[in-house]
Amino acid sequence: MLVKVVVLTGAGISAESGLATFRDADGLWQGHHVDDVATPEAFHRDPATVHRFYDDRRRELRTVTPNPAHIALARLEQVLGDELLVVTQNVDDLHERAGSRRVVHMHGELLSALCDSCQGRFAWDDDLGDGPACPGCGNDTLRPDVVWFGEMPYDLDLIEHALVRADLFVAIGTSGAVYPAAGFVRMAAGSGAKTLELNLDPSETSHLFDDARHGPAGKLVPEWVADVQALSR
Ligand code: APR
Repeated sequence: MLVKVVVLTGAGISAESGLATFRDADGLWQGHHVDDVATPEAFHRDPATVHRFYDDRRRELRTVTPNPAHIALARLEQVLGDELLVVTQNVDDLHERAGSRRVVHMHGELLSALCDSCQGRFAWDDDLGDGPACPGCGNDTLRPDVVWFGEMPYDLDLIEHALVRADLFVAIGTSGAVYPAAGFVRMAAGSGAKTLELNLDPSETSHLFDDARHGPAGKLVPEWVADVQALSR
């Protein structure tokens, strides 16, 4: 019998692909201050610094590839089909490049630009720092299509709809430090779902999960997917 599964991923799932996480010792927030690069106020105060931060990360995407954790989730989608939803906090495109179709980017995407004038969103794989014109309204008011602190994440209704109907909620590679994502385990558990954490180290919300396994995602996720596949036969 197929079960409804919601998987939440964070920066930890892309660490073994070579992308820095945010809060680990070598994380992005060690080298950059949130108030300088990840708030709408920072963008209006100093757009050049903000653009440089995201232009660098967008270019870096071309140098990395999906790892076994991304690939295992894409394989799981072939088994579960529409019963699986991947909700990612990540702005990279590694889930899609691994073959996942049902992916919700609640914090936006590096390969997308958002216009501050017309609110249009456009697929974008080039720098934004040199102020290109918006394809929609022509103004040079494009910004990274990333949800900054103090802004509303994307698709919360869709995500909550899936969480309250889930049989199983799995969090992979996230510290549980940022809401609303850190609250998803409570919402899913509150509606009767089983909950599982797969993370390198215990997170701020490990105690909320029925089961928590610690180790690299590149090892834990393929093992867990193999278990689910065995159960689904
Ligand atoms: N495998 C599994 N987990 C890992 C690995 C790995 N190889 N490497 C690191 N981790 C775990 C860390 O132990 C940590 O708990 O991934 C987690 C990464 O946590 P954060 O850096 O806080 O990233 P994340 O939880 O995705 O951050 C949430 O915060 O800064 C904002 O918008 C940004 O989406 C981001 C949000």
